[in-house]
Amino acid sequence: MSRISVVTGGTRGIGAATAIALKDRGDTVVAVYGYNEERAKVFTAETGIASYRWDVSNFDACLTGIASVEADLGPVDILINNAGITRDGTVHKMDCENWQAVIDTNLGSCFNMSRAVIGGMRERKFGRIVNVGSINGQAGQYGQVNYAAAKSGIHGFTKALAQEGAAQGITVNAIAPGYIDTDMVAAVPDRVLDKIIERIPVGRLGKASEIARAIRFLTDDDAGFITGSTLSINGGQHMY
Ligand code: CAA
Repeated sequence: MSRISVVTGGTRGIGAATAIALKDRGDTVVAVYGYNEERAKVFTAETGIASYRWDVSNFDACLTGIASVEADLGPVDILINNAGITRDGTVHKMDCENWQAVIDTNLGSCFNMSRAVIGGMRERKFGRIVNVGSINGQAGQYGQVNYAAAKSGIHGFTKALAQEGAAQGITVNAIAPGYIDTDMVAAVPDRVLDKIIERIPVGRLGKASEIARAIRFLTDDDAGFITGSTLSINGGQHMY
């Protein structure tokens, strides 16, 4: 059966690789993006995956956005909460805006998007939600109190929502990627990133496709007994 899947932050990085992996499985996929319209146009032209623009940190925008996806395509079966930003800096230099933006975009979006789809999933007794956390939500990271707090929150959110969905056919799992070869990681200064790569036993950055294949696995129809779990994919950098 062909499922309808929504991937936030779906036109770049891990989100784009995931959207492609789900499309390859046969899903009808929607990639949600926030700002980079140019990139979204190229992505849609190259992949044939529809892209929709809204701000996932805004509750009403998520309700409206999901309503338009469902009007166009039908009920959403699978939600991948992948959208995320960094605003790195040590606490003594961080302003309130950079704290709040990361909390709202990375963690608030998981509530906003889940709230928009969960009612329909409960009615239909089927749903798959995967939230993209991070190694830095598990282990912390210098200069990332905002990001680590949001990602750590995602791991708690996942376990709580998994309990609520379990009897309704809805599974909720998290992925905790390590350092993956994306634009986000490329923004880390080289002198810092080189030291991080030295601490990855596999000896390299991960690939977005290596995360996408795990998300595909967790969202298969026959993955119904896997819920509330966190799958760490980090080249051995943090064994949790
Ligand atoms: N542990 C201890 N001390 C550290 C440190 C660390 N990990 N990193 C830096 N320091 C120290 C430095 O040695 C330096 O001390 P000295 O002046 O005594 O040498 C001091 O802290 C200041 O360091 P910076 O010069 O780097 O300070 P800055 O203010 O210019 O930059 C920063 C701070 C923005 C946090 C910068 O260090 C940085 O960008 N770090 C990368 C953070 C990171 O890993 N982000 C991940 C982004 S990707 C992602 O998040 C995806 C994912 O899920 C994995």
